[in-house]
Amino acid sequence: MHNVDRRAVRAPLDGAGARDVVFRRDEAGRAVAAGVVIGHDVRLGNNVTLYPQVELGDRVVVMDGAVLGRVPLSNRTTTRPVASTFAPLVVGPESIVGCNAVIYTGVTIGAGVLVADLASIREGCRIGDGVVIGRGVMLLYDCEVRAHARIQDQVHLVGNIVVEEHAFIGMGVVTTNDNDVYSQRFGLSAPIYRAPVIRRGAVVAAGATILPGIEIGVGAMVAAGSVVTRDVPAWSVVAGTPARHMRDIDPELRAKVEAIIGA
Ligand SMILES: CC(C)(COP(=O)(O)OP(=O)(O)OC[C@H]1O[C@@H](n2cnc3c(N)ncnc32)[C@H](O)[C@@H]1OP(=O)(O)O)[C@@H](O)C(=O)NCCC(=O)NCCS
Repeated sequence: MHNVDRRAVRAPLDGAGARDVVFRRDEAGRAVAAGVVIGHDVRLGNNVTLYPQVELGDRVVVMDGAVLGRVPLSNRTTTRPVASTFAPLVVGPESIVGCNAVIYTGVTIGAGVLVADLASIREGCRIGDGVVIGRGVMLLYDCEVRAHARIQDQVHLVGNIVVEEHAFIGMGVVTTNDNDVYSQRFGLSAPIYRAPVIRRGAVVAAGATILPGIEIGVGAMVAAGSVVTRDVPAWSVVAGTPARHMRDIDPELRAKVEAIIGA
């Protein structure tokens, strides 16, 4: 496996809580903070960094350059306050974290999850068993992605979004949580964040945009490139800008999907 006991090095960080991290480094550039828990048969690539309170389950693979357990830091102009303190980051057994992925502190990842190269998962996210987080996906703070959901490459999920079991989010989908951004960015109105909810078994096709607070119903489908401004009823198909009802899911197909997703 890995060998991380060569020498301890103080981290060049300057965030409260992150300032005093001490890493042990090895000849492959892996840096592992004191107290990190590593299960059996874990594989760590070159230049992997594991911050405090990271816990890797058995047979986890963390590929080259990945960073696990970092704290968020603010430059004081960000709207939302962040806490730069460590919390447990647990990666379940047989999960894979791709090259140069960044997973923040305080995240829970289930068993058999794939986090592809360059994905970024912010603090407080909860990822269920068997989930796929594609290449370059951005999950903001406190997202919940439930078991067997699939998030394709370069999707952006806003803070506090819920993606339920077996939902499928196509490439390049963008979600939003703030309709008042015009005044809110200058502090001219109080922030009101309303995250969308993507219900069990729904599909949001490539390149769609979901506006704040929208609910995509169970088994529904949003067509590629749509801009969704109204809630989408379960088992319906919407398309366009703004998205309008196109048809319903064929009843025979619906019955088969219901059997799979347990709706
Ligand atoms: C411009 C914006 C704020 C308008 O939202 P709004 O004032 O709440 O609009 P309304 O819900 O009152 O919608 C009025 C009508 O315009 C339509 N509409 C709203 N936004 C639309 C959009 N982006 N594209 C097409 N039609 C849109 C609505 O469907 C509605 O028509 P309908 O009643 O026939 O369905 C919203 O479209 C938007 O862009 N929000 C910004 C989200 C964002 O990027 N935030 C920053 C990142 S989190």
